[in-house]
Amino acid sequence: MMSIQANAIKSDLKGKDFLSLADHSAGTIEALLKKAKQMKNAPEQFSSLLKGKILGMIFEKPSTRTRVSFEAGMLQLGGHALYLNSNDLQLGRGETIADTAKVLSQYIDAIMIRTFSHSIVEELAYHADIPVINGLTDLSHPCQVLADLLTIQEVKGTFKGLKLVYIGDGNNVAHSLLIGASKMGIDVTVASPPGYEPNSEVVSLAKAAASETGSQVHILNDPFEAVIGADIIYSDVWTSMGQEQENQQRLKVFKDFQVNERLVKNAKDDFLFLHCLPAHRGEEVTAEIIDGSHSAVFQQAGNRLHVQKALLAEILK
Ligand code: CP
Ligand code: NVA
Repeated sequence: MMSIQANAIKSDLKGKDFLSLADHSAGTIEALLKKAKQMKNAPEQFSSLLKGKILGMIFEKPSTRTRVSFEAGMLQLGGHALYLNSNDLQLGRGETIADTAKVLSQYIDAIMIRTFSHSIVEELAYHADIPVINGLTDLSHPCQVLADLLTIQEVKGTFKGLKLVYIGDGNNVAHSLLIGASKMGIDVTVASPPGYEPNSEVVSLAKAAASETGSQVHILNDPFEAVIGADIIYSDVWTSMGQEQENQQRLKVFKDFQVNERLVKNAKDDFLFLHCLPAHRGEEVTAEIIDGSHSAVFQQAGNRLHVQKALLAEILK
């Protein structure tokens, strides 16, 4: 892992896109986390950092955390954010992504987009002259994992030697966790039902990152085996946005992948429970676990604000 000098918080993010954690070094991620901690501890010191800067936020799916934390973050940094629902843009009436990118680039300083296919974000970034941030695609959710890493660092004090176990669908959150955790030297195990494992290209990228940091990546089908010795247990919804028509089928397929008191018996005594939220209590996790003493899900959600402020500051500085 790249070492960071004590006082120099340097990332190479200025003017760059933030589409996937795979595009950025462990050193850049460390620098972002360090900046996020500074901003969390002394927000008043950064209140005019992005004065006059405007972030456009395109949403093709619903959001609570991403929308509000990005908007609040821009305001707290002295800038401004525009909520752009795709149904209210000409994008919703067939204007192309390329044309949208070229036009918005002349009005605002950066775009955050939440959409379906990852190729839409890549196309937007290709045609835009301004930085583009991935606020969730069907493939990945990198801003979420920055917050997850900050939360792990705050609670556990380290990354090295930890075992993170993700239980459930091999989805966008699982993909970003695989990349982010393996880059930071955390061992990652994903347990999914057969046919719902993470994307094999993402697993290969995570394995390559793990081989550099000396960590391990395992993809299993048995949640009880996966959770043995876990320091962190992570879960997400069984049905992601855009998969609603599969919900009944998924309730059946994932029924043995609930994080509950019986499953966590195999984890370490001081395991940490994380969930990106929104959660469905009684499906992927029981209320006892998500509302219990091991859970840090609200600290985790709160950290979205701080890591994204750091990201915006580094990209727009
Ligand atoms: N975790 C997350 O991205 O939440 P929202 O869907 O509410 O933005
Ligand atoms: N996997 C979930 C994450 C929500 C933040 C989804 O895509 O709906």
